[in-house]
Amino acid sequence: MGAAGGRNDTETSPNSLPRRCRVQKKTVPLLAEGTDLSYELSMTTHIPVIDLFAGPGGLGEGFVSRDGDSSYRVKLSIEKDPWASQTLTLRKFYHELRDAHGGKTPKKWLDILAAENPLELAESLFPEELKRAKEAVWTAEMGVDESAPKQHIKDRINKAVGNADAWVLVGGPPCQAYSLVGRAKMGHREGFSDDKRHRLYRHYLEIIADHEPPVFVMENVKGILSSPLDEGFAINKILEELSHPGKAVGRSKSNAVYKIHSLVSPVDPSVDPSQLVIKAEEYGIPQRRHRVILLGIREDLGDITPERLKPVQEQVGVGVTISDLPRIRSTLSKEPDGWAPWKKHVDNYAASLKIKMKSSDETSLNAGANLMDYSGTPEFSSQWYRRDAGNLLLNHAARGHMTKDLARYLFAADFAKKNKSSPHLRDFDDELLPDHKNAKDAKAGTGPFGDRFRVVLDGKPGPTVTSHISKDGHAFIHPDPSQCRSLTVREAARIQTFPDSYRFLGPRTEQYRQVGNAVPPLLAGKIADIVTDVLKKAGLI
Ligand SMILES: C[S@@+](CC[C@H](N)C(=O)[O-])C[C@H]1O[C@@H](n2cnc3c(N)ncnc32)[C@H](O)[C@@H]1O
Repeated sequence: MGAAGGRNDTETSPNSLPRRCRVQKKTVPLLAEGTDLSYELSMTTHIPVIDLFAGPGGLGEGFVSRDGDSSYRVKLSIEKDPWASQTLTLRKFYHELRDAHGGKTPKKWLDILAAENPLELAESLFPEELKRAKEAVWTAEMGVDESAPKQHIKDRINKAVGNADAWVLVGGPPCQAYSLVGRAKMGHREGFSDDKRHRLYRHYLEIIADHEPPVFVMENVKGILSSPLDEGFAINKILEELSHPGKAVGRSKSNAVYKIHSLVSPVDPSVDPSQLVIKAEEYGIPQRRHRVILLGIREDLGDITPERLKPVQEQVGVGVTISDLPRIRSTLSKEPDGWAPWKKHVDNYAASLKIKMKSSDETSLNAGANLMDYSGTPEFSSQWYRRDAGNLLLNHAARGHMTKDLARYLFAADFAKKNKSSPHLRDFDDELLPDHKNAKDAKAGTGPFGDRFRVVLDGKPGPTVTSHISKDGHAFIHPDPSQCRSLTVREAARIQTFPDSYRFLGPRTEQYRQVGNAVPPLLAGKIADIVTDVLKKAGLI
């Protein structure tokens, strides 16, 4: 029986066995003539991952690409944003392509990666693989019946999981959904019970209750820990409901109980929820990203203690992650652009700020592009970053800046180089200050946001790449003063540990947003290792 069989309607329903005895079926089905063998094999031997609120797919990518070739495959991603869905589809296509070619990547992949419209070229060169990729990525808004009817979600998850007992549910609703948890009691308030975000949270619990995954991984921002509820915090109620999802949503037939674990500490999160926070930089990610990520393990699998993430001895700085990328300059946003006028502005600012430029800074720079040639080697994890990217570099186009911002970026990056820290507004000369009262107040120490110009420091893990990067480059200034610019999408993606063959589709602001939303795939890969160990201990693989 292949993937087509719903989990609950197979003849030899695994539900008839005590759960601890269930093992994933690895038998190869009898194949009809013309069946794509690699595809059928992958359907029966891979561990399905269902990725909800999938964004561009960072979490899922970590599961699939951990240690090169992994046993996980994302069988269904649900994401409402059409651009993120396109990015997901291209990535899913890449994995389908490799699976269909015995784990090797056909050379034509690079043509597709470089194409102006990669999905169109994929369709004409490998229609079957693209079809499968499209089937696995569903652009739909959960919680909105017209877009994603509940029964349809249920059917699609059943189909994607097939009859596998070992599978993983990853992703969680956005934090606004959780922050309303406590207000369920205020159902009498007009409109509350209809609030889409609240419904989303209930819906997520229903999905766990209906499908009873052996393991789930839920990611969210730290704010989820501080939402108040009565005298305490909503997180305690959330943990309680995630532990008893069937009871929480009134599903009398669903009595699966989960134990919720921290991935970094043995302390029970219901006693101390702060143990759920993962500080990515402590685990080898070049970024100070602090997120709540929890692991739910179905209790009937046994008394399983998961491994924890192992802290690294030495944190990874941004420099080794991006310094191999081509030097590029920003563009001029408010006047005709070109190397000569750009350089003239920069030289003038450097002279007035008394900043010495190196002779190598004289080489004419272009402003990067969505597609460039590349011949370097990343200092950090080069195999991970460069696999199947050929000599291509994608999403490395610099943004345009106002000339006054060139001066600010030049000053800030030069300051950071000398002082190993970003300047405060009080370090700026008056003529460099943004022309509004807030900036003057911040400089005087009588107002907030004195740190609005932040340089991504070479030797340290980078700042949290958030979706805000799509709007504001000031908080992500490139450490090289002579480039006078904020980070490109590719640099942000490197800090987020996306491989260079991961192409982000859509307008540039959308690309930034996607990168900022994701779980770093390298971190997700380490989480996948822990999940694998759990599935092994449970006897499911
Ligand atoms: C934080 S991001 C997820 C990142 C993802 N886990 C990763 O690692 O790349 C949350 C995503 O949920 C999507 N989203 C929000 N509400 C949704 C809904 N109701 N249905 C489907 N997707 C939704 C957003 O568009 C966003 O891309």
